[in-house]
Amino acid sequence: MTDTVRDDSHSDYHAVKAQAMKAMQRGIWTNRFENRFVPFSSREMRSDISQESIAKISEGKHYASYRGIPMAKDPFDIVLYEMLFYEVQPRTVIELGAYSGASAYWIADTLRNFRIDARVLSVDIDLSLVDPDVKNDGSVTFLEGNCEQIEQVFPASLLQDLPHPLILIDDAHVNIEGVYRHFHKHSFQSGDYLIIEDTIPWIPGDFGLSDGGRTWGDWKSNEIQAFFRKHEADYRIDCYYADFFGYNATWNWNGFVKRV
Ligand SMILES: C[S@@+](CC[C@H](N)C(=O)[O-])C[C@H]1O[C@@H](n2cnc3c(N)ncnc32)[C@H](O)[C@@H]1O
Repeated sequence: MTDTVRDDSHSDYHAVKAQAMKAMQRGIWTNRFENRFVPFSSREMRSDISQESIAKISEGKHYASYRGIPMAKDPFDIVLYEMLFYEVQPRTVIELGAYSGASAYWIADTLRNFRIDARVLSVDIDLSLVDPDVKNDGSVTFLEGNCEQIEQVFPASLLQDLPHPLILIDDAHVNIEGVYRHFHKHSFQSGDYLIIEDTIPWIPGDFGLSDGGRTWGDWKSNEIQAFFRKHEADYRIDCYYADFFGYNATWNWNGFVKRV
């Protein structure tokens, strides 16, 4: 049997804090990973979290909420997004896939808490899903549109007017290569981020079940490969976020992507 510490007397918080302050810039441990930014082709499709754990956490994720409104975010990504937002200090955040609007609401609140002056835009094919409280709050600009025709939702002229750094969050899961190609051509600049949600193949296929047998599958991770094969030199996976809690310990396997 391993020994337990049983109390907190082993922790020298002054030393820990001094070490943190020395190694951190804007909350980022600069010495944590030797190779923080790596090409997509060097990454593996695996995670340090087991499929069984993912299934169990997914069950909770289905019932998560923000300010009383259903929000489809897992606990790992909530922390990772917050740190990324603070580091990047975005001027624009675009979310594809608004659903109830809770995630965009949380993004807008988080940025405001951080005193980051940014516009938050969120798109859905069906804005009747968005909670009236979020609509009335006014902190998010909702756009009704179909990401299959991304050039109509975000014409080049609109994208050119949006300030950078810009973070695009793909949580709509449609027209993947077409969407990324459009933003590559008309929007992304060096320092911008693309967050690709739900590249993990193990999400349970049935709402609220952790042992239903069916899974989401690897179709999304396969589709993003087509884009990165063509644009390998322009993007890097940010391992600081992807591997923060262990290799791909996130729903977004290899999904924290920096435009270089
Ligand atoms: C996974 S949910 C988004 C969850 C939300 N971002 C969150 O974290 O709570 C995906 C959303 O994408 C929307 N969607 C599906 N197909 C779409 C399309 N072709 N264009 C735009 N939105 C679409 C759905 O209506 C749904 O609300």
